[in-house]
Amino acid sequence: MTAKYEVHGSVAVITLDNPPVNGLGHATRLGITDGLQKANADAAVKSIVLAGAGKAFSGGADIKEFGTPKALAEPNLLSVILAVENSSKPVVAAVHTVCMGGGLELALGCHYRIAAPGTSVALPEVKLGLIPGAGGTQRLPRALGVEPALNMIVSGEPVKSELLAQIPGQNLFDRMAASAESLAEEALAFAQAVADTRPLPLVRNLPCKHRNGDAYFQFARNMVKGMAKNFPAPLKCVDAVEAATKKKFDEGMAFEREIFINLMWTPESRALRHIFAAERAASKIPDVPEDTVKREIKSVAVIGAGTMGGGIAMNFLNAGIPVKMLEMKQEALDKGLGIIRKNYESQVKRGKLKQDKYDQRMALLSTTLNYDDLKDADLVIEAVFEEMGVKEKVFKELDRVMKPGAILASNTSTLDVNKIAAFTKRPQDVVGMHFFSPANVMKLLEVIRGEKTAKDVLATVMAVSKKIRKTAVVSGVCDGFIGNRMIEQYGRQGGFLLDEGCTPAQVDKAMEKFGMAMGPFRMGDLAGNDIGWAIRKRRYTEKPDMKYSKTADLLCEKGRFGQKTGAGWYDYVPGKRDAIPNAEVVKMIEDHRAAQGITPRKISDEEIVQRLVYALVNEAAHILEEGIASRASDIDMVYLMGYGFPIYRGGPMLYADQVGLFNVVQSMKRFAQNPLDDAKFWQPAPLLAKLAAEGKTFN
Ligand code: NAI
Repeated sequence: MTAKYEVHGSVAVITLDNPPVNGLGHATRLGITDGLQKANADAAVKSIVLAGAGKAFSGGADIKEFGTPKALAEPNLLSVILAVENSSKPVVAAVHTVCMGGGLELALGCHYRIAAPGTSVALPEVKLGLIPGAGGTQRLPRALGVEPALNMIVSGEPVKSELLAQIPGQNLFDRMAASAESLAEEALAFAQAVADTRPLPLVRNLPCKHRNGDAYFQFARNMVKGMAKNFPAPLKCVDAVEAATKKKFDEGMAFEREIFINLMWTPESRALRHIFAAERAASKIPDVPEDTVKREIKSVAVIGAGTMGGGIAMNFLNAGIPVKMLEMKQEALDKGLGIIRKNYESQVKRGKLKQDKYDQRMALLSTTLNYDDLKDADLVIEAVFEEMGVKEKVFKELDRVMKPGAILASNTSTLDVNKIAAFTKRPQDVVGMHFFSPANVMKLLEVIRGEKTAKDVLATVMAVSKKIRKTAVVSGVCDGFIGNRMIEQYGRQGGFLLDEGCTPAQVDKAMEKFGMAMGPFRMGDLAGNDIGWAIRKRRYTEKPDMKYSKTADLLCEKGRFGQKTGAGWYDYVPGKRDAIPNAEVVKMIEDHRAAQGITPRKISDEEIVQRLVYALVNEAAHILEEGIASRASDIDMVYLMGYGFPIYRGGPMLYADQVGLFNVVQSMKRFAQNPLDDAKFWQPAPLLAKLAAEGKTFN
C-alpha cells in the first residue's frame, strides 16, 4: 500500500506515500479509498486530512503506469475523487511543495484545502498534448475564477500557492499554513474546527460565470491559436473551460472526458508523451546499473579554443564548473577567449544574463599553453582539428600528464573513438562527447561509448551532461555515430531529388512544411557544404559502389560552401540568415541533369518528405540492429534535440510507427524501382522488414 492511515484524536490522516512525488498509481488510489472507508466507518473519527509524505502532496499520475491498463483500473482517479466528495465526514487536503495534475484535481475534490506557502500548483497536462481529465477544467475555474484558471490550464505552468491565495474571491485555498513545517499540525486543527460544519462544501456547487464570457473566450482563442501552432490541446483547454461556464457541472465533466479521450489518440499527444518517456529512458544505459559510483567532476579542461572548444567551455562555466583551455599559440587562445566574451556580452546586452553572473563565469575560466597545467582536471575534452594525427599527439600528451582516473573525452564527429583510445595506456578512461554546433546552445550530446570505455566513465559523463543541461544519448562507435550517419542518407536522397527534377528551394519548402526547422539544403549552407564534400571524397575511395548525386560536388567546386562564404545552395546577405535562391545554382543543376540525359519530372511534396524521412528511418533500423543505439526512442531524441525534427511528430521512429511500418516498407519498395535512386539502399533493413511483417512498431 502506498498510502498510510493513522488516527490522531478525532481526525483520520490519509498520507500518500509513493516516492518520489506521490504519483497516483493504482496502489495509492486504493489506499485513499480504503482510508476513506475506514474513517467513515469509525465513529470516533469526525474529520479526515489527506496529506502527502516527503517531497510532495502529489505530482499527479504515476508515470510508471503511463499508457498501461493499470492507469485506468478502478478505482480510477475520477472514482477516487467521487469517493472523497461523497465522504460523509469532511475531507481536508493539506498540500505542500508539489500539487500538480491529478494531485490538484484530487485536492479540488476535497471539501477544504489548506496549503503551505511555496507549493507549486499546476495542471500541466497540456504539455503532454492533453487537457486535465479528472475534473480540473471544471473545478479549477469554479475554485479560482475563470481567467486565472484558464491561464494555468493553457500554459501548464506552475504558480506558487501564496500568489494564488491572493486572488480576490478565490476558493482554492481555504487557509494558508504559516509554513511547510507547521502544515500537518495546522491541518489537524483546521479539520477539527470544521468537523461539524454541514452541509459540506463542494467545489462542484460553486458558481462559474464570466461577466463578458463570449468576448473573453473569443480573445482567448485568438491568443491561444497563435501560440499553439501545430498542437490541438491548447485550444481544447479553452473549449473545456468555456464549458465550465456554460454547462451544468456533470455535463461539463462529460465534455472534458470526451475531449481528453480524443486528445489521447492524436499523433501530437502521442509524440509529446513519447518524448517525455524517451528523455527519461535515454539517461539509462541497459548494462550500467543506476547505482554505479560516479567519478567526481569538479574541474574541466578543454583542448582547442576554436568553434567547438569555446562553446563547450561555456556549458561548464554556466554550470559553475571551472574550465582551463589549452591552445598551441597565444593568439588562438586570445581569439577563443574573445569569442566567449562576446557571446556573454551579447547575452548581458539582451538582458538574458546579469553582469555579476557574467563576471562570475569569466572568473571560472583560465587558459594555458602548457599541458602540465591541466594535470589535475577531472575531465578533459579535446576539440582540436579533425585529423587522426593531431588527435594522436593530443591524446599521447594527455596520457602523459593527466592524473589517474581523469576522464579523457574527444569531441570528434567522424573519427574512430577506439583508435583514439588506443593512443593512451588507459582506454577505459576514454569516451566520445560529441557536442553539436553551436555547442553552448544545442541541447543534444552524443556520448560515444568505446569498446573499452569503463561503465563508471559512462555513468559519470551522463550525470555531467545533466548538470550542463544537455540531453545525452549513448551511441556506439561507427562512422557518423547515430545522427550524422543517418543524415548522410537523408542528404543523399536530397541530391537524387535535384537530379530528378527538384530545386533546392522546393525540397527545403516541402521539408519545412513537414515541420523540419530547416530543409536539407539550408541546413547544408549553415553547417558548411565543404564538410559533406570532404566526407564524400572519402566515400568515393572507401565505398566506390555507393551512389551520389554530383550536384553538391559541383557546388563546392564553385567555392559555394554556404553561409560562411556568403553563398551556397542559396545566396546570403552579410549579417542575415535569409536564404535567397540563386539562378546560377538552379541552372547548374539543370545543366548537370541534361548532361546525364535525365528528363525532369514533377515531384510531389509527399514524395520528397517520404524519401528523406524514410531514408532516416531505414538507416536508423540498421543502427538499432547493430546495437549502435540501444533503443528507437534514443534515435528520436537525437533527431528532436539535434536536427530540428518537429516535436509534434515525436522523432523519425515514432513518425514511422504512426504511419505504420508496413506502409513505410511498401513505399521503400516503390523507391527501389526508381532507376535514378539507389535500389540497394532501399532494401528494408532486416529489423524494419521483420517488424513490418509482424505488424509491430519500433517503440
Ligand atoms: P576549429 O578549427 O574551429 O578549432 C580547432 C582548434 O583547435 C583551433 O583553434 C586550433 O588552433 C586548435 N588546435 C589544433 N591543434 C591543436 C593542438 N594540437 N593542441 C591544441 N589546440 C589545437 O574546429 P572545430 O569546428 O571547433 O572542431 C573541433 C572538433 O570538433 C573536431 O574534431 C570536429 O570534428 C568536432 N566537431 C565540430 C563540429 C562543428 O560543427 N564545427 C560539430 C561537432 C564536432
